[in-house]
Amino acid sequence: MKAVIPAAGLGTRFLPATKAQPKEMLPVFNKPTIQYVVEEAVNSGIDDIIIITGKGKRPIEDHFDKSFELEYNLNLKGKYDYLEEVQAISNLADIFYVRQKKQNGLGDAINCAKKHIGDEPFAVLLGDTITYSEIPCTKQLIDVHKKYGGSTIAIEELPEYKIERYGIVDGVNVEENIYKVNNLVEKPKLADAPSNLGITGRYILTPDIFDKLNSIEAGVGGEIQLTDAINEQENVYATTFEGTIYDIGNTMEWLKSSIDMALTYDDVRDEVLDYLRQKIAEN
Ligand code: G1P
Repeated sequence: MKAVIPAAGLGTRFLPATKAQPKEMLPVFNKPTIQYVVEEAVNSGIDDIIIITGKGKRPIEDHFDKSFELEYNLNLKGKYDYLEEVQAISNLADIFYVRQKKQNGLGDAINCAKKHIGDEPFAVLLGDTITYSEIPCTKQLIDVHKKYGGSTIAIEELPEYKIERYGIVDGVNVEENIYKVNNLVEKPKLADAPSNLGITGRYILTPDIFDKLNSIEAGVGGEIQLTDAINEQENVYATTFEGTIYDIGNTMEWLKSSIDMALTYDDVRDEVLDYLRQKIAEN
């Protein structure tokens, strides 16, 4: 299976940090956001990845490229741990790039991958969203997709204040944590939302999605919405994801993700917790 990582968005919610750098390159503790996303795909068994970029996204390509100068210098200085780490990044997967020429929505961005994907089901991992779990989110989705067929979406229960920012699912429970989708609504008003189950930014899509993307009209925000195209598909399932999801385009979620990731490292965990305790005592 191949994966598509859309990373063409402007990052407006994170200005001014994203004025001259892609939001996907914002570090979460010690790694850029998109590296977590690529690692999730790789850890789910996917090593052929296409990243949809746009204007100003060159640092993403540079990050996954080989850096001769850096490697030469690290070698010279005997910093072999760092050397190994940077070499591993450029060997993570086969990564291809295509540019979305105009900001025209997530659906349009996915459509840019059509020729690369061909006629097979594929994974979509939003480049500004990271997940943390024992079994990678995309792997969990692949397993549900294998069982039920059809497009499969990861969902989470949302608090009310988030509903208007997400695609929302109207579905019927078919087994614990799995729903057959009847309808999807992109960014509904709270009063019109069919549930509190929101699309989280991880999908397995069947290739007929490309025909649907070509036949739908622009939706919310005047853009081609992936949610609207999935809504045209026959056989769609949604599954609640076991783990934590962070939308890095949101400053508060970014901050929480950095703290949570730092806590996963034994050598810094105590220092971070001591610092947080000190802050709580002071405030
Ligand atoms: C996109 C999708 C939306 C989904 C969200 C998750 O919206 O269109 O359905 O719930 O990602 O982050 P965006 O955040 O690009 O506006």
